[in-house]
Amino acid sequence: MITIEDLDIIAQKTKDRIDQSPARTVIRIATCMATGGIAAGSQAIMDLMHTRFDGSTDVEVQVVKKGCVGMCRLDPLVDVLVPGNEKVTYVKMDKERMQRVIEEHILGGQVVAEYTLHVANDHLLNDYTVLEA
Ligand code: FES
Repeated sequence: MITIEDLDIIAQKTKDRIDQSPARTVIRIATCMATGGIAAGSQAIMDLMHTRFDGSTDVEVQVVKKGCVGMCRLDPLVDVLVPGNEKVTYVKMDKERMQRVIEEHILGGQVVAEYTLHVANDHLLNDYTVLEA
């Protein structure tokens, strides 16, 4: 029989898995696998990440699919969520660009700004942040 405590544990694990805030504990990489993403080549990116993060490294990474966010012309889109940092959205990705993001951002901690949605005043604008003038 499932107890209330069991349900609380399941709820917390689910929150941890889907948390997009800087408070999350595991690196998460979400690739657009909707129609536009697949048409633009996102399956190759998913394949690369499943190979790269197959459990043989000491870095824990969740590789997940995401749906259409209405920016299909910028596909393949890849969101990188590193604990302690805001989400970074990379656009027009391919295997070579993803290799660089893996090495420099996911493993190295440095955002590859030139592949992101856009940058203004040296500030990443990935979450529709409104900058003060
Ligand atoms: S299908 Fe990827 S953003 Fe629309």
